Amino acid sequence: MPRTIYFDYNATTPLDPAVREAMLPFLDGVWGNPSSVHHVGRRARALLDDARDRAAIFLGTKPSELIFTSGGTESNNLAVFGAARARQGRGKHLITSAIEHHAVLHGFDYLEKKEGFQVTRLPVDGEGRVSVAAVKAALRPDTVLVSVMAANNEIGTIQPVAEIGALCREHGVVFHTDAVQWFGKEPFTSLAQFNADLVSVCAHKFHGPKGAGLLYIRSPLHLDPVAFGGGHENEQRAGTENLAGIAGLVAALERFVTVPVFAPGKLEGLVAQLREHVTAVAGCTLVSPATGCLNNTVSFVVAGADSISLMAGLDVEGVCASSGSACSAGSLEPSHVILALGRPETANSLVRFSLGRDSTAAEVAAVGEILPEVVRRAQLG
Ligand SMILES: Cc1ncc(COP(=O)(O)O)c(C=O)c1O
Repeated sequence: MPRTIYFDYNATTPLDPAVREAMLPFLDGVWGNPSSVHHVGRRARALLDDARDRAAIFLGTKPSELIFTSGGTESNNLAVFGAARARQGRGKHLITSAIEHHAVLHGFDYLEKKEGFQVTRLPVDGEGRVSVAAVKAALRPDTVLVSVMAANNEIGTIQPVAEIGALCREHGVVFHTDAVQWFGKEPFTSLAQFNADLVSVCAHKFHGPKGAGLLYIRSPLHLDPVAFGGGHENEQRAGTENLAGIAGLVAALERFVTVPVFAPGKLEGLVAQLREHVTAVAGCTLVSPATGCLNNTVSFVVAGADSISLMAGLDVEGVCASSGSACSAGSLEPSHVILALGRPETANSLVRFSLGRDSTAAEVAAVGEILPEVVRRAQLG
């Protein structure tokens, strides 16, 4: 059998067996609609309420401050559109960073183009970090929303969100952080540690199910809905709840976040070794910072090669990695993160290795062995 080395844990993680177990009753016996008034529905409602209570206890919030969603994209869309539209009576200026996930950035683009908002996109330094001083300088009397991610998905840079959040609070500006990549990787005590009004979480990034996430909305903030219909989720997200997904999300939160499932003790050595392998290959330059970075992410750019050839070359060797570049209809979009780092000449050549729970030293060594040849071939085109 050909080997598989899965170094793409930032894309998704496998469902944990215990999480799956926690979901099974909701795929079978408990199938009622939580909004139905009869006893079958009421049973589902009781279990939904219980899941929300458990999530709230775990996260250190009120149950009414949690909106269950279909994942990171929906949480980010609801945060950005919902907060901007709800607050527009006070002003139409928004701030974000140049390296957000597209689920945030494209929302800001839309609000700017179609709804008359003004958007400041903050630059980052050479390591992909937003400065608190830059946020401060960009704040205006009509600023109503700031959105800066907790950790970047492409290169792993961790942002000073607690400081940015404190600054926004001082100025009465709503602060959203996309913490989708952060959960399960950094030590967590309570959502209060972000100083945020809105926090996006996504279950499949820490061994929960796909299609399940949540948005924390700090009371008394109330968002404009983006989905209309019933009065579900405190009138802010219409649609019958995905009970199995919610059960999986809560189970994954309780198991894999307080003590991060991306265990620093294990990953530190593997990542250090992998960084050495990458540095040793001619033409490869690390873009993941050595400190202040997610403990599992090793990203680099390659002179004279493109991501498509690099991904294909790695895949032939059984290695699953990612590129930041989106590929549509055969054309390669440069990574907006690498462009923001000020490296336009290499923006088409990002490779991201993201390690996880089952990664081993033998896999790192194997990747170290094949990498020079994969790079050489990709450079030949
Ligand atoms: C930082 C970040 N935000 C949002 C998302 C979107 O999550 P999903 O695709 O599960 O909706 C991702 C997914 O990779 C992400 O990395």
